[in-house]
Amino acid sequence: MPRFPLSRPARIGVFASGNGSNFQALLDAFPPPSAGAGDGLGSVVVLVSDKAGAHALERARRARVPAVHAAWPRPSGRAAFEAAAQAALDAHEVDLVCLAGFMRILSPAFVGRWRGRILNIHPSLLPAFPGLHAQRQAIDAGATESGCTVHFVDEGIDTGAPIVQRRVPVLPGDDEAALADRIRAEEHRAYAAAVRSVLRGDAAPKGGEREGRALQAPEAGVST
Ligand code: GRF
Repeated sequence: MPRFPLSRPARIGVFASGNGSNFQALLDAFPPPSAGAGDGLGSVVVLVSDKAGAHALERARRARVPAVHAAWPRPSGRAAFEAAAQAALDAHEVDLVCLAGFMRILSPAFVGRWRGRILNIHPSLLPAFPGLHAQRQAIDAGATESGCTVHFVDEGIDTGAPIVQRRVPVLPGDDEAALADRIRAEEHRAYAAAVRSVLRGDAAPKGGEREGRALQAPEAGVST
């Protein structure tokens, strides 16, 4: 298993289920090798989606990034999805997996195989408001601020070590969509910053030798 930092540009795989604006932010920050740009730290090399119609797949095609639809058939689709997804990650020699609006729960075995090399983004300041409808949870709780968290993935739901958080205000009259839009703008900055932090070896998951230092990493930080 490679350890960050690598002595070459890291190969990044992204899982997305929907629109893929976070995938796009990662593409912009870590362009595919064919684009011949980027900072040399990493490149997005493959997109995996569990949804055949996901706009993220179209974004990948436009950017000439290999895109794989790995179906999650009912009722027990996880094993099929994970086998296809792992095959795609292997084929593209992926070093780091970024979940970007990926609306499924991966198995402990899959997460364990990628420990320290799999990240997620969540639209709240974890540990507040994990799980679905985080923006609605924040409004319903009367929170005056919320934000987003990029974190390492562990076996729990949104419980892995945070890497970067960015804050936004919750304004009077906000509905779920308005707050989601405000948070999403910060998500795009947060994800690129968190990936840079991981690829530079400045952040590590719980139990790693740098445990507890993730939020003090140079690229990390909490915006206002
Ligand atoms: C984001 O709000 C992300 O935090 C959540 O799902 C949403 C995905 O948005 N996990 P997009 O598909 O990246 O635009």
